[in-house]
Amino acid sequence: MKLFLDSAITEEIRHGLEYWDLDGLTTNPKHIKSSGKPFLKVIEEIAELFAGTDKPVSVEVNPHITDWEQIVEEGAKLAKMSPNFVIKVGASESGFKAIRELTSQNIRTNATLIFSVAQAWHAARAGASFISPFMGWKETYGDSATTFIMEVAEMLERHEYESEIIAAAIRNGRQIADVAIAGAHCVTAGLGVYQDSMQNPYTVHGEKVFQNAWDETPHE
Ligand code: E4P
Repeated sequence: MKLFLDSAITEEIRHGLEYWDLDGLTTNPKHIKSSGKPFLKVIEEIAELFAGTDKPVSVEVNPHITDWEQIVEEGAKLAKMSPNFVIKVGASESGFKAIRELTSQNIRTNATLIFSVAQAWHAARAGASFISPFMGWKETYGDSATTFIMEVAEMLERHEYESEIIAAAIRNGRQIADVAIAGAHCVTAGLGVYQDSMQNPYTVHGEKVFQNAWDETPHE
């Protein structure tokens, strides 16, 4: 399963690239806002960080646009800025039409805000490179996000669609494990979620036990 960082903070992205060799990036308007920089400036900086790699970077079109032709127009402009850019489009009738059109122009897309297998199927049929089911949000509303990922994975496999699942809105290490087992191709989460998932209180305790043993052993 590929590891994508969900962020638009350049320091976080540099850290992820340097320490984890992350496989790609997802951004959204909330992340861009929290970068504190204007939209074009931050996405140019991000493009620079990924230049010369083949790692996908999802950049979302203006979420106010509901007309498919305008989504395509804006998506095509963004795609020209970097070969890494994958155009993130919200799931809707216009969104799926825009995905189909962008795909026909060889522009990769990420269908976002996916909450049902039917939406995932429309996205796959339209040619989306990535499909982003939102785990955390599903679970907040009491749905089984793991079952959802399994069903989307099975639907894609059974009908031989090439879209990859990016399990999104991940809140903890348990969910990372769940989506890996359920068949997600990629996971995207924030820096802190990944860092937490690398630690465990038993590991800290065990290190202490071994350090004590080390200190109590003669070393010459
Ligand atoms: C995924 O691509 C989204 O950017 C992201 O996971 C959104 O969810 P969140 O902001 O609730 O984490």
